[in-house]
Amino acid sequence: SSGPLVLGIETSCDETGIGIVRGRVPGASGPRGRHTLLSNTIASSMDEHARFGGVVPEVAARAHLEALQPAIEHAVAEAGIRLSDVDAVAVTSGPGLAGALMVGVGAAKALAVSLGTPLYAVNHLVGHIAADVLDADAPPLEYPTVALLVSGGHTSLLLVRDLTRDVELLGETIDDAAGEAFDKVARLLGLPYPGGPEIDRAAAEGDPEAIRFPRGLSRASDMAKHRYDFSFSGLKTAVARWVEQQEAAGAAVPVADVAAGFREAVVDVLVTKALDACAQHGVPRLLLGGGVIANRRLREVALARAEAAGVTVRIPPLRLCTDNGAMIAALAAELIAEGRAPSTLEFGADSTLPV
Ligand code: KG4
Ligand code: ZN
Repeated sequence: SSGPLVLGIETSCDETGIGIVRGRVPGASGPRGRHTLLSNTIASSMDEHARFGGVVPEVAARAHLEALQPAIEHAVAEAGIRLSDVDAVAVTSGPGLAGALMVGVGAAKALAVSLGTPLYAVNHLVGHIAADVLDADAPPLEYPTVALLVSGGHTSLLLVRDLTRDVELLGETIDDAAGEAFDKVARLLGLPYPGGPEIDRAAAEGDPEAIRFPRGLSRASDMAKHRYDFSFSGLKTAVARWVEQQEAAGAAVPVADVAAGFREAVVDVLVTKALDACAQHGVPRLLLGGGVIANRRLREVALARAEAAGVTVRIPPLRLCTDNGAMIAALAAELIAEGRAPSTLEFGADSTLPV
């Protein structure tokens, strides 16, 4: 027999993601013993947010409502199945933007009830970790592993002892997410949204040592309370001040050097804290996830410093690192394989859902 066909819905931010996964058969060897990705359909409302310089919650919720039905149809066609073949529905119930989440949760409930399937409500951050199980080229994830998730919506460091049973949040940003910081600094440098790729490109031409920007929550006095937390708003302000001073002095702003110095500060603090978590918990494995993983310098520094520290780094393919429905379907497929009960219909969207 084949494993269950799971349809996952992700609407926590600006990506409407529909994923279809054929779940693994417990105990089976070969391909049937692994989850198989059949569709990873993503409709983004990023273009609609571009003129605002960031994601506008109301715009995102409305866009999800419009994008869901066509995205489901596309995913079903791409997977080569009929909607009635779906064995289980999964949805992100949080954390994320409340209105955006509500659209996905409502759609998932309606779909599960009309198809008569079980429904699994899952955590978005744990979903990012589950993206790893869809990487057909990688050996199975080993436990425990430290996970660093960096996107426009979150910057979190987690200790994963077991994907479906034991994920502990070690720390997270206390203000802006790393991707958000990239977007805000890009804006003040006059670069378009989304700013991450723009800063990455500009930084490639700059000197990362030319300007030293602050590393947030990295002083000895921060270690007691915020060892694994992040802060990027002070860095953003430091960049803004530096640029203002240049302009006040009538000097040209060296955009490439500012971008390189800023990027170096973000990358340094992310990698330092992730590897500190590995060392403190005796965990020689680090999993990276989230859209900011597209950053070339971040991957480069993480790989180099991890190797020096004896830590193995796993990076799922980028299309599985950014927000998507496939990771949500994968997490539910894993819950099903573990024999876990589905959610009852009482759950709702929870914008601050803990792991
Ligand atoms: O995971 P993701 O696609 O979804 C949201 O969280 O919305 O991440 C998008 C974020 C944006 O803030 C974007 O600027 C950032 O990831 N990003 C990058 C790069 N590519 C995308 N940040 C730094 N360097 C990049 N190359
Ligand atoms: Zn995310």
